[in-house]
Amino acid sequence: MKAGYSKMFYFMVGLILAVVAFTYLPVIFGISSTVKVVNLNVYSEKLREMLKQYPKKTIEIDKESDKGITFRIHNNNSHVQTVNVEKNPTKGGSSDNTKNTRSKTPKPTVKKEKDFDEEKKVLPTDKPVTPAPTPKKNNVLPDCSDKGSKLVGPLFIDQSIPKDMEAVEKDLSVDFGGTVEKGGKWAPTTCKPKHKVAIIIPYRKRVVQLKSFLKHMHPFLQKQLLDYRIFIIEQLYKDPFNRAGLFNIGFVEALKLDKEFDCFVFTDVDLLPEDDRNFYNCPTSPRHMSVAIDKFHYQLPYATIFGGCGSFLRDDFEKINGFSNLFFGWGGEDDDLYKRVRSYDMEITRPSKQIGRYTMLKDGHHQSSKADPNIISLLQTSEQRMVVDGLNSLKYDVKSVIEAPLVTVVRVELSRSMYNLDV
Ligand SMILES: *[C@@H]1O[C@H](CO)[C@@H](O)[C@H](O)[C@H]1NC(C)=O
Repeated sequence: MKAGYSKMFYFMVGLILAVVAFTYLPVIFGISSTVKVVNLNVYSEKLREMLKQYPKKTIEIDKESDKGITFRIHNNNSHVQTVNVEKNPTKGGSSDNTKNTRSKTPKPTVKKEKDFDEEKKVLPTDKPVTPAPTPKKNNVLPDCSDKGSKLVGPLFIDQSIPKDMEAVEKDLSVDFGGTVEKGGKWAPTTCKPKHKVAIIIPYRKRVVQLKSFLKHMHPFLQKQLLDYRIFIIEQLYKDPFNRAGLFNIGFVEALKLDKEFDCFVFTDVDLLPEDDRNFYNCPTSPRHMSVAIDKFHYQLPYATIFGGCGSFLRDDFEKINGFSNLFFGWGGEDDDLYKRVRSYDMEITRPSKQIGRYTMLKDGHHQSSKADPNIISLLQTSEQRMVVDGLNSLKYDVKSVIEAPLVTVVRVELSRSMYNLDV
């Protein structure tokens, strides 16, 4: 009886192993029955040309009928774009009919590198800038943009972790003889800055990075002679992190504290700019600033990326109704923002790869949220949603607003249930 039992046992184990191997081996070796090999020869020349613009991306057939074909183009792991194309047309004319407006041959709305020379002209780093002429009336200050002489270009990034927040405060806060005022504010006294800038950071349990960020950014922003204030918007409790929603909240709360803000920089807390000619004051709007991040080998991961760090004039941000509020979890919210901007025909500009360089802090990283499972469907409705999902539908509860020595901390509750998204 005992022997019979163990035979049965081995048989079951074997069976289970076989099932597991059968299910997972194809996945391990990258063979999946759902991915078909694309035979492009059946399709028109025009289509083949069109698909060439997605060189490094995985192109996969989604649906195929005698009329045409739907491709899925994987931009990211989770970002899938669908493109509909008619099969070889018998008549000439528009063969590659892309039903999906998204996937019409995308016109590049991102200005490439063009502004590099402009920036160079404005800020020659080799020669000292001649001081702006002092105006006759003594009470009128000169424009700060004429006073960039302290800028040096590439910076040293100190990645050592400050001992504690107090150590950073001791270096920078007015309480200890520094320059930064309570709430994380500063403004130049010798010239008049063009904008009043709110730096908005979405935040949750990243104190190690926050210390490095504040230590690096205050001197950086002051060298640029900006009138600025740094805000962290902290999402309390357990819901998945909603980066975009927190940016919207930062925009609204900053304006509640000071109506004069007219330029907003939206940045992650782990991004430290490596070149002080990368201006944090809306020289153009909208602007994508984190062009070349060390983590991505100082290359732009894809042409339409708008993640990391970017800036908007107040009016432009209001025009596109801010970010979507519905992206709970990692990724996609910046792609959605890009579509908003593009649907208004706004032109995004970027600094050059030399100036838009960033170090991404490695310490203190933790996997805070998984990818939002709704990304794909959300990204298919970006344009339709933008008028009803954003600043005009923002919901949250402020739990506290604290003016810390180096930063204003807004702590909020922001949860999926506020938007009737099932948990
Ligand atoms: C794709 O990856 C980029 C870079 O990490 C990220 O900013 C973006 O949100 C991602 N998009 C999606 C749809 O996951």
